Formats: sequence, structure tokens, C-alpha cells
Amino acid sequence: VVLLFKSDPDDTRGWTAELARRLPGVEVRTWPDVGDPADIEFCVGWAFPPGSLRGFPNLKGLQSLGAGVDHVFRDPDLPEALPIARIVDPYMTEDMTQWVMLNVLRFHKQDPDYRRLQAEGRWDELPPPSWRDRRVGVMGLGELGGHALERLRYFGYKLAGWSRTKKRIDRVETFAGEEGLRPFLARTDILVVLLPLTPETEDLLNRERLSRLPKGAFVINAGRGRLLVDEDLIAMLDSGHLGGAALDVFRQEPLAADHAFWKHPKVVITPHVSALTRAETAVPQIVENYRRALAGEPLLHPVDRRRRY
Ligand code: NAP
Ligand code: GLV
Repeated sequence: VVLLFKSDPDDTRGWTAELARRLPGVEVRTWPDVGDPADIEFCVGWAFPPGSLRGFPNLKGLQSLGAGVDHVFRDPDLPEALPIARIVDPYMTEDMTQWVMLNVLRFHKQDPDYRRLQAEGRWDELPPPSWRDRRVGVMGLGELGGHALERLRYFGYKLAGWSRTKKRIDRVETFAGEEGLRPFLARTDILVVLLPLTPETEDLLNRERLSRLPKGAFVINAGRGRLLVDEDLIAMLDSGHLGGAALDVFRQEPLAADHAFWKHPKVVITPHVSALTRAETAVPQIVENYRRALAGEPLLHPVDRRRRY
């Protein structure tokens, strides 16, 4: 029996149908209708309620419904040896890259300034930035960051990337670890954040680090909200040190109605939709992982519990 958990009940139906269609003969149950906990062999979901996985004595694998797995490690009772997999889906990767392009181009082409001028009915020409000189930096050089950089290359920007371990990427200046962070930030006009949330990356972008970006820099975050300290970002935007921010992820989701980001003139918000997981493209790898988990084979796109991503 496969157990599916999703916080949005409307969304569950499509997933249950797709899983059932591709797993003939396997029963797919939907939380909270667990039935006998001993029946559950494989769990698929997003943010299972803490403690719940420990209650399934025959559980052989956990499939995150997203690329990120910080939601999995929020459970202090996560069974120790449980194999965990995350989604790596070319459809989703392309989706993220397009969201990143939207926002890099928004800031590079001064769109927020031209929208303000339009609102004032002003035909003013701003000094045009050169794409040859524009320095774009991507934090996180994994599935998503690596793909975004590949596409950003087409625009002719000066590219850099930062990761935990040093990478070699054609025509990209690469930096790694704590010692690479300062020089990476100092040369970055448009910062794209595609990092996972781990104990090492939480609150990484605080006032001190944001102040390393050049004056007028832009921040684009689709990694996780907790990578960024909200008050520090707002202070840097208000002081004029930062030119703008595009945010898809937040410390608390949904974003509280009274949060300062909503009405901030320099902040553009999307509600965690930059790269949604789709049943149609993600279920084949989940089905394969179900088979592998039951056979005791290594899962596709496994999560390293030590690194937490
Ligand atoms: P990934 O393939 O695991 O890549 C993660 C990258 O981050 C790797 O390059 C890794 O470095 C780097 N990294 C991790 N910890 C680091 C640290 N302490 N210092 C420096 N670099 C570090 O992950 P992915 O598939 O690209 O996804 C990244 C994240 O995007 C997910 O975890 C999730 O939070 C977010 N996401 C958001 C959405 C959305 O809709 N907003 C959708 C999908 C994913 P190494 O290469 O050295 O290991
Ligand atoms: C979405 O945020 C994901 O991690 O897939």
C-alpha cells in the first residue's frame, strides 16, 4: 500500500488517480485514511505531520513531492534508516529556469523603474545598462542552478556561481564555501538564490552578507524563505543599497497578510509557484522509486541525510 499526503485536498485527487493508474494492483491511500499502519510500505508527500512516519512499521521508502526536502527533516522522529528521495524533473527544472529568466530580465531591463514612470505618465529614458557588463550570480549549482546558468549564458551576461563544493562550468566563474562567498557576492549585480534550506544555509542572506553585494544589486529567491532574513532584506532595500527583490518563497507560507513584503515598492512576489511539481511528469520516477524501495534497491534522486539535501 502507498500512502499519499498532501496538505491541499483538491490537489490530492489528481495525484491519487495518476499513482493508481501507473501502479495497477497497488492500493493508494490518502492521508488521513491510513487504515492499518502496518500496510503502508511507501509514503509520497509534502510535509507529513511530524511523528507520523515513525508509526508505519513496514515503511521502506519516502518520496518527497518536491525537489526540496527541508520539510522532511522538520520531523524530529524521522525513522533513522528510511531511504528518502526527492523529485528531479526536467519539466520542473525548465519551469524554474523560466521564472528565473523572467526576473533577471525584469531587473536587467529596469522594468520596475519603467512601470513607475508609466504610472506617472512620464516619457523618460533611463541610462541603459549593458548586458555585456551585467554580472549575474547563481547560488546553488545543482539541478536548478546549473540549468538556469546554462540558459543565462544566451544573454551574454558575466556569470558566476557559488556552491558548497567547487565546480568547473564553462564560461562561469565559480566560487565555493565560506571563503568564496564574499568575492562571489561582491561581483554580483543580480543574485539568483537556488539553494536548499539546511542548517548551513538557514539565514545565510543576512544584513552582513547582503551588504557585500554592490550598491543597487537585485535579489531573486526561489530556494526557500528561511535562506533570507526578511528584516535585513527590507532594511537594505529601504536604505537604497539593494535595488529590488523578486521572491517566490517565504519564511511563513502563505505570507502573512500584514507582511511588509506585500506592499513594498521594490518587492515582487509570487506565491511559491515558480516550479510546481506536476503529477503527469513526476509520477513515473515515483513509481520507479516505489519498485526500488520494495526491492531494497537504491532510490532515484536520493537525499543525503548528512547534508540534508
Ligand atoms: P540540488 O540539485 O541538490 O542542488 C543544491 C545546490 O546547492 C548544490 O550545488 C549544492 O552544492 C548547493 N549547496 C547546498 N548547501 C550549500 C552550502 N551550505 N553552501 C553552498 N552551496 C550549497 O537542488 P536543486 O534541485 O537544484 O533544488 C534547490 C532548491 O530549490 C531545493 O532544495 C528547493 O528548496 C528549491 N526549490 C524551490 C522550488 C519553488 O517552487 N520555489 C521548486 C523546486 C525547488 P554542491 O553542488 O557542492 O553539493
Ligand atoms: C518546491 O518548493 C520544491 O521543493 O519542489
